[in-house]
Amino acid sequence: MFQYSQGRHTTQGHKAIPENHFEEEQGRKGFFGQVSHLIKPEPSTRWVNIEGNLKPHLFDIVEMKKNYGVWQRMVFNSDVSLYNVWLKPFSANDMNAFRNADGDTLYFCHIGEGHVLTEYGLLEFKKGSYISIPKCVTHTIVCQSESQFLVIESKTGAYREPDRGMVGKNAFYDPAAFGKPNLEQLHEFKKKNNLEILKILAKRNSEITTFTYTNCYFDTVGWKGDFWPLTLHISDLMPLISARVHLPPSAHTTFVANGFVVCTFLPRPLESDADALKVPFYHQNIDYDEVLFYHDGNFFSRDNLHAGMMTLHPAGFPHGPHPKAVKGIATKTHTDEVAVMIDTWQNLNIDPEFMKVDKPDYWKSWMSK
Ligand SMILES: [Fe+2]
Repeated sequence: MFQYSQGRHTTQGHKAIPENHFEEEQGRKGFFGQVSHLIKPEPSTRWVNIEGNLKPHLFDIVEMKKNYGVWQRMVFNSDVSLYNVWLKPFSANDMNAFRNADGDTLYFCHIGEGHVLTEYGLLEFKKGSYISIPKCVTHTIVCQSESQFLVIESKTGAYREPDRGMVGKNAFYDPAAFGKPNLEQLHEFKKKNNLEILKILAKRNSEITTFTYTNCYFDTVGWKGDFWPLTLHISDLMPLISARVHLPPSAHTTFVANGFVVCTFLPRPLESDADALKVPFYHQNIDYDEVLFYHDGNFFSRDNLHAGMMTLHPAGFPHGPHPKAVKGIATKTHTDEVAVMIDTWQNLNIDPEFMKVDKPDYWKSWMSK
């Protein structure tokens, strides 16, 4: 396809939008593929009714029962499942190891801090850490305080770094920022805390099989290779910005897997050009279902949101900022929200249990009050 245009349009997307008009971006592959910008007198979010299943969802994970140690499934498809997991503070008596043979596990620490014992060494985490545990890597999470994780399970392939294209290999984050497993610290930590891990719970086909040993499983004395667990903290992410024009969400891609991407939105200055579009734009993300997990900060583009909430915006549902955010933007100079986005190629299913914390009127929040 080649570039073509009709009627009134701007020469640069997200810029110089005529007064009292709105821009809607319609993009393939999460705005990384074919894309067009439509200028409209009113946003497509001005519906007065929606009937049917293609509705956006807002879930309050804070309302979920704390079922310690259980992976509470929230949304899923054939490539990825998202879970909410609470873990109690460390107690040496009941420590087991876990091995996920169903996929690669990316934990995002929403609350808490601690360490992860792995066969490759000790990892550290705190609020805002991603912990990437490749498929079948045995690990034990040792929490210093009660901890909550968003778990992103990739079922059809490993996590990879994003394609950084024209901004170079150190953009958004430097691979040197990865937290690496430390074998020496693993053995010191085991000794200091009198830890002996004798049981491994292995998950395959969502069923648990228990392997029991008579001495500690974490006994590696050395290793080499390019397959190992790692961490990445949000403070090591350097958001890309343009003073002149709003950058697409793909600029915030943190990890890529098969059938989905994980992006991190972090506090950053807003565009300073007078004619630049400053709020998150109205758009149709044609190919992806979008999940946003609200971790921290002030979520200025949406009404009535608090940390620990999650939204699901399915493909086919045009969306953008809430009316109140559009009005309030003039005084804003920066965003101060931290959110994790998971964009999935296959449509997401909602676990029936998770529907219990669904806010059924969310779709009405775009309607002017
Ligand atoms: Fe979106």
